[in-house]
Amino acid sequence: MTIDIKKLIELANEERKKAYCPYSKYRVGAALLCKDGSVVLGCNIENASFTVGICAERVAFSKAISEGKTEFIAVAIVGSTEKVPTPPCGACRQFMTEFVDPDFLVIEASPDGEYVERTISELLPDKFVL
Ligand code: THU
Repeated sequence: MTIDIKKLIELANEERKKAYCPYSKYRVGAALLCKDGSVVLGCNIENASFTVGICAERVAFSKAISEGKTEFIAVAIVGSTEKVPTPPCGACRQFMTEFVDPDFLVIEASPDGEYVERTISELLPDKFVL
């Protein structure tokens, strides 16, 4: 399947509007492309009890898994830093590796469209497994 990277970034950027982030004020959107061609979106959702908050990537993956999707191609992540693409945090890297192949594509983007492409195995070469 060809990946429309610009479209995926656009969807993630739009999703940022839904972020619930009154504490950090840092909006993040994620657009997860599934093998069936569908795209599942997620935004960060914070909480007054800070550690309970959840990142955009984990929201997108959790929604997709709970909807019965099992195969994934790529995710675009758009943070709030202008000009600098936002990479996934360490916890999200580990979370995502559970469900994807080593060549799963992570597109790190900024709101103005700057982006870099990485594979999940580049981002987390030594994942924890049980
Ligand atoms: N955040 C994400 O949604 N994804 C990441 O990979 C990095 C951080 C969120 C968590 C928090 O709501 C805000 O960005 C600031 O850390």
